Amino acid sequence: MSLRHFLSTQHLSRAELEAIFSLASAFKREPTGHALAGKGVALVFLNPSLRTRTSFELGVHQLGGHAVVLEPGRGAWGIEWREGAVMDGEAEEHVAEVARVLSRYVALIGVRAFPRFRDWAEDREDPVLSAFVRHATVPVFNMETILHPCQELAHALAMRERLGDLRGRKYLLTWTYHPRPLNTAVANSALLIATRLGMDVTLLIPSEEYRLDERFLAAAEANCQESGGSLRITTDIEEGYRDAAVVYAKSWGALPFYGRPEEERPLRERFRHFIVDEAKMALTRGGLFSHCLPLRRNVKATDAVMDAPYCFAIDEAENRLHVQKAMMTWLIAENTPHV
Ligand code: CP
Repeated sequence: MSLRHFLSTQHLSRAELEAIFSLASAFKREPTGHALAGKGVALVFLNPSLRTRTSFELGVHQLGGHAVVLEPGRGAWGIEWREGAVMDGEAEEHVAEVARVLSRYVALIGVRAFPRFRDWAEDREDPVLSAFVRHATVPVFNMETILHPCQELAHALAMRERLGDLRGRKYLLTWTYHPRPLNTAVANSALLIATRLGMDVTLLIPSEEYRLDERFLAAAEANCQESGGSLRITTDIEEGYRDAAVVYAKSWGALPFYGRPEEERPLRERFRHFIVDEAKMALTRGGLFSHCLPLRRNVKATDAVMDAPYCFAIDEAENRLHVQKAMMTWLIAENTPHV
């Protein structure tokens, strides 16, 4: 039997997606389960985290299992993932051993591995996550690499809790200023899930340099064909915000300047006014706002927006716990042979 992993929501059928949402809502009412009774889950973090780490550690516990958090290079040996590498640098062991050894101990392996921000052609292949998948003999799940599928599920569940059926609702994904170029993962993910659920999606970017990777734009277009949603891209702030049911904000780096942040800086500095503020939210006429967090207040969104009743970022963060328990329960069931 070949393993099912959880790397992208695009790999789930619509029925599987709905089953996970339904189970997540059930976990919200009754938090405990038994899917991981007596089992271990390895949570491999190559990057910092507050929400992902806390919600997965607690989630594994609430399903009867035990989570082991590993931070390669900080308390665990540094890991090399390139096949055929001559390992005379910092890394003490290869993912070929790491993934196979962990597979002997645990039932699931979660991986957080942000891009290295050197070469997008390399990073867009998701090399660390792919290497874990190649070598592990247990299911692997994505805790944010070039996509953030757990955030997608939490975000979508939170929108549904407020709006019900999302089909035909206007969804604005807006770029926001941040002093550094950040990962595109959450933006890619937001595009995928909103189009999958049939929303009319507007991607608001400050200039063409901030277009997302064409592969994700194409996948979002394909989702629209299937779901009846739509995707448009604009640089016009007023057009983007006007009558949006949901505004989702994220900052990311301009791909043409990938690995060259100092060259991107003068361009980025021109767009501080993309901050989400009350004047822009007023254009939505009653729209909701969220962000995946962490968020720099008064840089990405103002205090007033973050503290407004229409901001559901905290509820979205809570949903991480529920959707991840649903995802892990689904993953265990999918990989358990049925007689
Ligand atoms: N949204 C999110 O993944 O938060 P952390 O980086 O704190 O895990």
